[in-house]
Amino acid sequence: MPLFRGAKRWMILVTGLLFASILLAACGEGSPSILNPAGPVARDESGVFYIILIIATIVFVGVEGMLIYSVIRYRERPGSPNPRQIHGNTTIEIIWTVVPAVILFVVLIFTIQGLFSVAAQPAGKTVEVEAVGHQWWWEFYYPEYKITTADTLHVPVNTVVHVTLYSNNVIHSFWVPELTGKTDVIPGHNNDKWFKADKTGTFLGICAEYCGTQHANMKFDVAVDNNDSFQTWVSAQQQVATQPTSGSLAQQGQKIFQEQCQSCHGIVGVDMKSYQDPKVSCDSPTAACLVGPNLTHFGSRGFIAGGVLTNNANQCQPGPDIVQRCNLAKWLNDPQGIKPGNDMAIGQLTTDQINQLVAYLEGLK
Ligand code: CUA
Repeated sequence: MPLFRGAKRWMILVTGLLFASILLAACGEGSPSILNPAGPVARDESGVFYIILIIATIVFVGVEGMLIYSVIRYRERPGSPNPRQIHGNTTIEIIWTVVPAVILFVVLIFTIQGLFSVAAQPAGKTVEVEAVGHQWWWEFYYPEYKITTADTLHVPVNTVVHVTLYSNNVIHSFWVPELTGKTDVIPGHNNDKWFKADKTGTFLGICAEYCGTQHANMKFDVAVDNNDSFQTWVSAQQQVATQPTSGSLAQQGQKIFQEQCQSCHGIVGVDMKSYQDPKVSCDSPTAACLVGPNLTHFGSRGFIAGGVLTNNANQCQPGPDIVQRCNLAKWLNDPQGIKPGNDMAIGQLTTDQINQLVAYLEGLK
């Protein structure tokens, strides 16, 4: 029947596309995977995944195998009698209740073991971080070093990082697939977690709880440094912002910053005396809580505005076409077009002003 054959062809096509989309979904460029763990917490978590996958595969193959075998072996043939009815067979009912219960109990044991091993923070040297979820970017404060940064979380390799998660707005979720699983960031309830990276490199972090229109643009980088470069980074971050040379483009940019930006952004040495703990300042009725990221060392960060753009400082030489080349210039030219709904309330800047602001901000290493 041609109609039936047409329907069959469509079904094959749709099934094929479905499987292809599932397979290709894993191919997003630079997308981090929990199956690529780079630390003990992520390794424990992916271990639980593999155990469940193996058990589920055995159950699937067993059940489907028996089903297909029975469909073929016991299919209806002309003149075959009615099969024996087993409804109400106590032995069979007990077997198919107990076997799945035992299987689920085995899964439960591995899951609980994983939960305990992920919760047990090893003793030894620890770096403390407060991760603050904003709409829509991440702020990181290091209480021990008294530094604040945004979008890029620097940590030393092979060192326990203890993170306290704080929000004063909506629920976010802190997730670095290759280093640690998701933990909710809940207003009024400070969760905490730890993780450790056993190799240097950059790992993508994501907000994993829908938190408003720009939820997808709430990314951050975890930069895992060796111990020496981490200490160098800390010392550099503890310095006040670089003061631009007199008469330079950057100095004109600093003036624009003071006129247009400093009511929301902080730069230590310009509009702030020292770094402030966002967890404290945002909940204190007296201390000023910054609306936007602290920009003291903006030029050293990998992302702009929660990862909506990368900070491609090497493309940011001044010129009339700066908005075409340089992501910071693009951002300053049209922040609401690039990330609608964000808090940037900057007036329209001329190309000259953008050149000046970019020269200033990218110079803040
Ligand atoms: Cu923050 Cu989603």
